[in-house]
Amino acid sequence: MSFYPGKVIITGEHSVVYGHKALLSALSLGVTCDAESGLELVNHAIADPYLKHILQLCSRELEVRDIETTLVLKITSTLPAKSGLGSSAAVAAAVITAVFEYYGRHLSSAKLYPLVLEAEQYVHGRSSGADPSIVVHGGSLLFQQGVATPLESDFLAKQTFALVDSGAATESTGEMVAVVAHHPEREALIVAIGAVSEAIVSQLQQGKYPVSLIRENHLLLARLGVVGAAAQDIIEQLWRMGIVAKITGAGGKTSGSGFILAWHEDSVFLREQVNRLGVSTIITQLGNNRGKHNEN
Ligand code: PMV
Repeated sequence: MSFYPGKVIITGEHSVVYGHKALLSALSLGVTCDAESGLELVNHAIADPYLKHILQLCSRELEVRDIETTLVLKITSTLPAKSGLGSSAAVAAAVITAVFEYYGRHLSSAKLYPLVLEAEQYVHGRSSGADPSIVVHGGSLLFQQGVATPLESDFLAKQTFALVDSGAATESTGEMVAVVAHHPEREALIVAIGAVSEAIVSQLQQGKYPVSLIRENHLLLARLGVVGAAAQDIIEQLWRMGIVAKITGAGGKTSGSGFILAWHEDSVFLREQVNRLGVSTIITQLGNNRGKHNEN
């Protein structure tokens, strides 16, 4: 049995694709996978093209044929899909680890990461590697150009956050990355987000929540065209309540933009205010979770 957490991006979504720094934290929600032997006439796993792709990758790495018809996978997820919470990377990490475990092979995080990255390219087209990295390593980390460094501060882990649902995105992560790629002001906006991210990380490392910088980050993401009307409306309501909020992850244009990351220093106030919005909300801490499997 394996478990891998989902994630939020505190700062650096989209700019990370262009080599800038991102800060990510693991959630306690995630994906569990159990691989058992058993031949089923209809193995649900192979009906899903993404799972089929993950199993083909396992087959190649393990040099074992017919995994799809040898194993029954029990996958349970507490992560909503298409919501910027890293569900595709968590599914890949949980399935790959459980399948390797079934064949008696232990995977270190260093070996698991490139496999999850490869699996995720199937969904993302051009993943920066940020999601696979946080899902595999857990905690909170800085990610830039393929290199992950743990965040040297426990300030984030002591905070309480609300994840407010603006609705699932209609577009895939790959489609949102393409929206940014074609934006006429892309270069300037990405450089600006890169600078804001550096400042956000520096403030967090000094034990301060960077209220105005997070707002600036969100406004730059909105200018990039990755924030839909529904998410913008909720975020403006939160700002008026005095709650710091931004989208987290790839976003979405035409319907929802996934979950909104919201913070206030007073967690009781935060909880009360987000409840008033009347939309689905998750109250959570960040960076306290890591993946696990039977050998740990
Ligand atoms: O799939 P999401 O919503 O967690 O977004 C991934 C973050 C991006 O920066 C938009 C893409 C990437 O590969 O880093």
